[in-house]
Amino acid sequence: MDIGIDKIGFYTPKKYIDIVELAKARNVDPDKFTIGIGQSKQSVPMEYQDSVTMAAEAANQIISKDDNIGLVIVGTESSVDESKAVATFLVDLLNLPEDVRAFEIKEACYGATAGLKMAEGFVALNPDKKALVIASDIARYGINTPGEVTQGAGAVAMLIGKDPKILKFNHEEVYMTKNVGDFWRPTFSKTAFARGKFSNQVYVEFFSELWQKYQNTFDQTVDDFQTMLFHVPYTKMGMKALKTLKDKIDPDKFDELSKHYQASIEMGREVGNLYTGSLYLALISYLINGDPKDNEKILLFSYGSGAVGELYSATIQPEFKKNLVSEEIKEVLSNREKISIKEYENIFAEDPQNGYSTNVSDVLDEFYLREIKESERLYKKMEH
Ligand code: HMG
Repeated sequence: MDIGIDKIGFYTPKKYIDIVELAKARNVDPDKFTIGIGQSKQSVPMEYQDSVTMAAEAANQIISKDDNIGLVIVGTESSVDESKAVATFLVDLLNLPEDVRAFEIKEACYGATAGLKMAEGFVALNPDKKALVIASDIARYGINTPGEVTQGAGAVAMLIGKDPKILKFNHEEVYMTKNVGDFWRPTFSKTAFARGKFSNQVYVEFFSELWQKYQNTFDQTVDDFQTMLFHVPYTKMGMKALKTLKDKIDPDKFDELSKHYQASIEMGREVGNLYTGSLYLALISYLINGDPKDNEKILLFSYGSGAVGELYSATIQPEFKKNLVSEEIKEVLSNREKISIKEYENIFAEDPQNGYSTNVSDVLDEFYLREIKESERLYKKMEH
């Protein structure tokens, strides 16, 4: 049975900062941020937004009453509660049936991939049902830190089912886990701690080891793929991994992979790191901005600090354009407002506590944190 992504949706907050303005405010040469790191804009979530509201926005773009969803998994490292899963709020906000399993998965930026793999097993056992897997995160390092330029926010929602219309999983996958201290966020902290350059090195090492393992396991070479998609914490990162192949493969093949990589990072450049959604935003970006061929075989590199890596192959389905909500996704990116660095710094300092309530007239989105009462977060969908 063919199983894979039947629909895919995307959300990023409606406010962003310009990366050149950020560089100037931090007394950094703008080329370092736009070329050295490779970012143009960075999404800034509002006080009423978090991993719950963004997950709801992305899922709302793709689900319908007839989907027969039996499983809801949210991959996130920006959870709002140590106990209650983000996915449980969604059952309410999205009017999902109660006969679903709903829970949350955490392993840094690998969470959504872990969710997809579980969803694949679920559909294999329950072919008449679908699974909703959502990646939703806010990447925060702090004002004037080396990681600040790599922040971002947003969510990607994927509906997994049999006979998928967008991407078929090929069940060719290799994975590995190592206990590595490249990046972490203790429960007391709203911002991540990163050994930045070390994390880059581990990312590339994971890719190289997994690629070797993949080739040995499945007796395939780079010529079996037209495209390689990467987790994109910032747009230069995947290219560092891709470049490890440069001297080992035909120059035309490397040019082809590089060209497709450029199409895959166009959207990530505009929003920043989505953490666990970044790889899947690269997929969306490639489907919309690249020129994928019917039945094109692609390789996806998922990396979550800490660290877990997985390299797996999938095949783009001939009718992918019909099921891709390209116009809605493009609108999410075009319908945004630039804010100043000062405004961003003020928003960054906000930290809603018990007793907080949102002024509904400030809400620009469909889903929002309504209030925090008895330390319980209560959400609402906008009434029209
Ligand atoms: P940094 O120390 O500010 O920057 O940290 P740098 O000095 O390494 O410079 C960056 C690049 O800009 C270099 O190029 C410079 O040469 C270049 P590279 O050597 O990398 O090719 N540069 C310039 N280019 C043009 N004009 C100039 C100029 N000046 C310098 N004038 C770092 C950068 C990414 C480390 C930092 O932002 C950081 O710590 N970010 C957070 C960690 C991160 O994103 N790690 C990525 C790998 S780990 C991962 O992907 C997992 C993650 O998503 C978390 C999860 O799994 O949950 C992060």
